[in-house]
Amino acid sequence: MPQLHSRSEESSHPTSEPSPTIARAPGKIILSGEHFVVLGAPAVAMAINLYSQVHVIPKNGSGLSVTADIPLRFLAGKSGNPPDPGELLLPLQMAAEATLKQTGSIDHALQVDVECEIPVAAGLGSSASTTVAIISAVARSNGIEMSKRKIFQLGFVPENFLHGKPSGVDQAACIYGGMIQFSRPSNVKTVRLKKDPVLLVCDTGIHHMTRTLVGGVVQKSKKEKKDFQNYLAKVREISSGVARSLREGDDEDLGTLMNQNHELLRKIGVSHPKLDHLVEVARRAGALGAKLTGAGGGGCVIVLSPSRGVRDRIARVLRREGGTPYKISMDTGGVESRPA
Ligand code: MEV
Repeated sequence: MPQLHSRSEESSHPTSEPSPTIARAPGKIILSGEHFVVLGAPAVAMAINLYSQVHVIPKNGSGLSVTADIPLRFLAGKSGNPPDPGELLLPLQMAAEATLKQTGSIDHALQVDVECEIPVAAGLGSSASTTVAIISAVARSNGIEMSKRKIFQLGFVPENFLHGKPSGVDQAACIYGGMIQFSRPSNVKTVRLKKDPVLLVCDTGIHHMTRTLVGGVVQKSKKEKKDFQNYLAKVREISSGVARSLREGDDEDLGTLMNQNHELLRKIGVSHPKLDHLVEVARRAGALGAKLTGAGGGGCVIVLSPSRGVRDRIARVLRREGGTPYKISMDTGGVESRPA
């Protein structure tokens, strides 16, 4: 399969005056391979129709001002400790600064306003989505249409800060859109679907720290080498099976593979009793497969349903059990920016 390339290549000359710009990027779910992708196994990820949006406007004076309107109330309501808003702004600021530096526009004074409808710290790619939208918007505001490949590279600046050892799968899904199979930054392939899977995301409301979870798994993999070799071999099979069943439209197979992937994630200790409970409830309510998605330790489960009708029923049952369901579909555009 061909590797993904952006058709738009960046021009090399920033404009002398920045202009108002708007950009949007989707969130993501991971259908298979999270955590193991950090250790070299492939993952399959899908961009979803929950978005972050970024407005960039030139301002008087100097420097960057970044504001963010993100679903913090959700975190504050359920997990007790709302995160420090300053901490959430730091990666956004880093993305904007790295882009100004890259485009030779460091002296431009900009106001960057971020709106995000993706729940934060829930495994749905809110950080990757907001930061790649910022990179795209800030570059365009300085007269540069940055290629997706370049946005991907710059996306590592905030992701390294947030995750410690990111694989790059989150930002790849948010940048390219659609369904991707990701093995490493130089090997990202589009998965062409026979039909769209009927999926549901359900948030436990328990937020997690991706950095701590990823670090824990990397440590464990060093101590339990033999077990991890077996897990990695299994995940390679699962991810190629997931890509095949998506290409062939085989939902039964896809559901079985998602269930197997959840068991492996439980084995490496990144599940949570509430995730396991929602997975069980969804399966009993008619799901073909269900698993945690993203870093785990809380966050979301994803559920594959045989039909939209069954999905509605599963959503009602999950809500009764304390989850927050989202009926999601695939985003195909990835990150996009335009003059405001
Ligand atoms: C987080 O969405 C996915 C992880 O595999 C981390 C990464 O790949 O960078 C847990």
